[in-house]
Amino acid sequence: MPRSSTRWSVPASTAMAGLLMVQSLPAQVLASVSNPDLLAAPPMGFNNWARFECDLNETLFTDTAQAMVNRGLRDVGYNRLNLDDCWMTHERATDGSLQWNTTLFPHGIPWLAKYAKSHGFHLGIYEDAGNATCGGYPGSLGHEEQDAESFANWGIDYLKLDGCNVFSEDGQPLRDEYRQLYSKWHKILSGMQDPLIFSESAPAYFSTNATDWAIVMDWIPEYGELARHSDDVLVYSGEGSAWDSIMVNYHYHTLVVRYQQPGYYNDPDFLIPDHPGLTDVEKRSHFALWASMGAPLIISAYIPDLSDSEIEFLSNKDLIAVDQDPLAEQSALVSRDSDFDVLTRSLANGDRLLTVLNRGNDTSKTTIPITRLGLDSGCKYKARDLLTGTVSTIKDAVDITLESHATSVLRITPPRKCTKITPTGMILNTATSHCLTASSTGVTFESCQAADSQVWHVSSHGSKLTLSPLSDKSKCLATSAGGVTLASCNGGSGTVWSHYMTGHLQNDKGGCLAESGGAGRLGTCSLEQAGQILGLPSGVRLAEGAAKK
Ligand SMILES: *[C@@H]1O[C@H](CO)[C@@H](O)[C@H](O)[C@H]1NC(C)=O
Ligand SMILES: *[C@@H]1O[C@H](CO)[C@@H](O)[C@H](O)[C@H]1NC(C)=O
Ligand SMILES: *[C@@H]1O[C@H](CO)[C@@H](O)[C@H](O)[C@H]1NC(C)=O
Ligand SMILES: *[C@@H]1O[C@H](CO)[C@@H](O)[C@H](O)[C@H]1NC(C)=O
Ligand SMILES: *[C@@H]1O[C@H](CO)[C@@H](O)[C@H](O)[C@H]1NC(C)=O
Repeated sequence: MPRSSTRWSVPASTAMAGLLMVQSLPAQVLASVSNPDLLAAPPMGFNNWARFECDLNETLFTDTAQAMVNRGLRDVGYNRLNLDDCWMTHERATDGSLQWNTTLFPHGIPWLAKYAKSHGFHLGIYEDAGNATCGGYPGSLGHEEQDAESFANWGIDYLKLDGCNVFSEDGQPLRDEYRQLYSKWHKILSGMQDPLIFSESAPAYFSTNATDWAIVMDWIPEYGELARHSDDVLVYSGEGSAWDSIMVNYHYHTLVVRYQQPGYYNDPDFLIPDHPGLTDVEKRSHFALWASMGAPLIISAYIPDLSDSEIEFLSNKDLIAVDQDPLAEQSALVSRDSDFDVLTRSLANGDRLLTVLNRGNDTSKTTIPITRLGLDSGCKYKARDLLTGTVSTIKDAVDITLESHATSVLRITPPRKCTKITPTGMILNTATSHCLTASSTGVTFESCQAADSQVWHVSSHGSKLTLSPLSDKSKCLATSAGGVTLASCNGGSGTVWSHYMTGHLQNDKGGCLAESGGAGRLGTCSLEQAGQILGLPSGVRLAEGAAKK
């Protein structure tokens, strides 16, 4: 892959980490971040899984397509119809090819693809990298080329590749087995004349181990256009709290901000607007959160029966525009306390987006100083509430009052003289969710309390970065005598840092910032140290390659 053409490059130490046997990439890779045009914005559409699981059929898809046309969803951008598991028969045909279930799809999948196309949709399909799908149907292991060819011949242009039933046969780490299989698919799909969009489920199989999860995430944006990083959202008939399951996926989503870029999108799973376990406030909040973060917007609901108000909030053009923004930044956390999460990101036209979520159980109010969004104080900003359409003027701070579980999204337009934006927000240990905290004696990792000592300005210093807490902007994160401390921001040795796609924050004197027993320390940079994998504000420029030991 041409290194200079994108901000992604293969971290050298990732390749060394697990004795990988990844085949070299074809000379011309036509997918993912090397070719953002293949999927220039997060996908939008329908998938049957969370609503119907294995109860899918042709009628469900044609009725859904009709409803999406009639109710305006297609015309606001929901243009994909994606089949999930259980569409096929239990046996491959005698020539080894996959077959659709003719009871469920009497006219056949190629017919459905044509039907979709003639109604303005793309058809997507589901398979599995292992020897069986999660539902027990034939997996693609050993049939990768043949299956890819079938899908293309059927008129499919999107593949969700699940990761059930992947086994490591020769004792190599399981995560390396996944890497081999997904890399093989990447080669096949991206080498096609019209590459299929590739949705990778691999990271979801590693989300319970921070080390493995981060190492898997490191290769994900190179191979595909989107990836499911965490568990399935609660299905319609599932037991438990749908809101809690949304919050779990949201949480994981906040940890992988740095990977998202044009051509690759983190996927926190489906929107479930007819889930019986959600309140109206929660349904709206779910959509607003996903859209404001720039996530795929794939509805898993019975669309013909959605209420008019559900269709209306799913069709919010201002939020959809933010979701599809060409800069493709993902919002990152600015602050977190017991009730509120505050997130921000930039938009392509220079606007700043503010997202506030009330995770708490009561209606509450919070005040967000404009400096926390990386904007200059002393200016007047125009703010448009994207859920209500209300326009207001913000000076030094914005007050937000939210019901329990509600989300507010403000699109903030700076005046001409105040367009400078400094990436600003939490520095989060993604393994413990602790916040880097400035104190008079140095830095610690503590539970997040939305304090100024936990909100950091990240400034460019040549090709490197300096990091300064809002509690004392004259001080910068620095190393001295192997420890981590705060020193005056003179750009001197020890006060400049590089941040990598892997999550490492490396000091110019060597060593990576790590949480160690609550303290902030410098350690030998290593992919195996989960305490070194940090989340920084969105918009921070990443260094090429990987941190060196
Ligand atoms: C198709 O699937 C839907 C949703 O599961 C179900 O309600 C409907 O009865 C099915 N139709 C046919 C013809 O099987
Ligand atoms: C096709 O699906 C129907 C309905 O789920 C099922 O009864 C039947 O066994 C399936 N046919 C094959 C060949 O798998
Ligand atoms: C898949 O592979 C595992 C491990 O080798 C084996 O136990 C299982 O029977 C295989 N399943 C299928 C459907 O081939
Ligand atoms: C997490 O994965 C790492 C790397 O594979 C392994 O060394 C570690 O033991 C795992 N941790 C747990 C708690 O399983
Ligand atoms: C909200 O209520 C639930 C259930 O009663 C409880 O588990 C949770 O901790 C509460 N959340 C907060 C932020 O207080």
